[in-house]
Amino acid sequence: MSSKMHRSTVEATLDPEDWEEIRTLGHHMIDDMLDYTKNIRSQPTRNPTKKALEEIHTPLTEDGEGEEQVYEVFRRSILPYTVPLTSPRFWGIVAGQGSPYGMLVEMLRAGMNGAQEFSHAEAEVNAQVIDWIKEMLGFPKASGGVLVSGGSEANFTGLAVARNAMSKIDVKTKGVQSLDQKMVLYCGDETHECLERSVELLGFGNEALRRVPTDEHFRIDVERLKDSISEDREQGLHPFCIIGCAGTTNTGSFDDLTALADIAREQKMWFHIDGAFGAWVKISRTHHPLAEGMERADSLAVDMHKWMNMPYAIGCTLVKDRRAHLSTFVYGHEAEYLRSAFDLSEDKLGNPHNLALPLSRNFSSLKAYMLLRAFGRKRYQDLVQQNLDQAAYLARSIEEDEEMELTAPVASNVVCFRYSRPNQSERQLQKLNKRIIQHLDEDHYLMISDTTIKGKYTLRACIVNHRTRQQDLDFMIREIKRFGRGESSR
Ligand SMILES: Cc1ncc(COP(=O)(O)O)c(C=O)c1O
Repeated sequence: MSSKMHRSTVEATLDPEDWEEIRTLGHHMIDDMLDYTKNIRSQPTRNPTKKALEEIHTPLTEDGEGEEQVYEVFRRSILPYTVPLTSPRFWGIVAGQGSPYGMLVEMLRAGMNGAQEFSHAEAEVNAQVIDWIKEMLGFPKASGGVLVSGGSEANFTGLAVARNAMSKIDVKTKGVQSLDQKMVLYCGDETHECLERSVELLGFGNEALRRVPTDEHFRIDVERLKDSISEDREQGLHPFCIIGCAGTTNTGSFDDLTALADIAREQKMWFHIDGAFGAWVKISRTHHPLAEGMERADSLAVDMHKWMNMPYAIGCTLVKDRRAHLSTFVYGHEAEYLRSAFDLSEDKLGNPHNLALPLSRNFSSLKAYMLLRAFGRKRYQDLVQQNLDQAAYLARSIEEDEEMELTAPVASNVVCFRYSRPNQSERQLQKLNKRIIQHLDEDHYLMISDTTIKGKYTLRACIVNHRTRQQDLDFMIREIKRFGRGESSR
């Protein structure tokens, strides 16, 4: 043994000494998580206690505390104080609930520690998932796509391809600082902030993102969009991309995607759509016309962890021009250390390592593959439809209730509303509804969220939850009215 080597006679590893022990622990973990999920309806929202905080914030030990002990910390001091995102009564922000099968599938993925999707079965699974997503969303067969971490990255990826494909210079080499003509892009004023973040990260500066006013249905005002493009052209700028939204976060509204596609074609601009959750109305029986024109996008961003309820974090960018996509992200053509790995790729255009920012990947296509295949198209279709029907039910209940008020038209699965009392000013209603949400948060954190639309403070429920039952929505209304009337909180 070299004198420099570790003194221990046993070489270190992270594998267990006793495989039976880890097997037993693993079975406990699975049992506990299945029980937790089965009983999620009665799981309260709690902030970490002092004791739990003390247990979380601890000095890192030199020798480790052991797998079982640390698992007990998770059970005792972490899990009970997490946000019960998986609850049937969770309609805040836009959050999927996952599923027991999804959890188990994630374990398989972690067990393989899959870090590549460029060869072998991984590449096949990835390609199949992209094909299924295209098919479900009615996106042309010849398009390409890549799985990413979620909606933000999916939008970033689409806009990165748009920038490189539409730029009048070789922006990949020269950068945006070499542009003679400033590139500008357009979205509605209801667009998600992640688009602004992408625009900033792509070097345009957020001033380049024109936020076109939306109409009374929260859709881009098409005439104002055309005017804005003409004005920018007159100023010598380069309008290069229109961003449409299939399902806005605030109200679930859909832009007129066909009209936007027509303008993009006339103006020779790229058409990108943020369909993070809303794109899935495409598989509904009642609301699919809202997605008309989606197939005409040059790039489409969509999430799998929201309305498809897959375990976080997974989204997808579909891109029509596969060469433009590849040339934006291609990696490894000059990196000797990647040559043999990337040469394994049968289909260079479909190699996901060349189609998004990360180099190492986590074989996230496996969960999409197994879940889509296990449940089948109809189950997802039924779930999307169920949520749309539940949103319509909630909207009706609110409309029929004298103490409640809808604050925006309901286009899809998002319902904006508030508790209301006669003869109260806007300010008083805002104060009252802010108090209601504070009360709700104490017992049911983020059951719903709040937002401001066209200057009006409002409560908001976004239903992408496969566990929700009608009675849960009734419960929420009862709670809101109880707090609105000032009745006891317990
Ligand atoms: C319309 C829309 N786009 C993009 C995003 C960002 O997606 P993610 O949270 O998956 O990054 C969201 C998130 O709610 C969204 O609602």
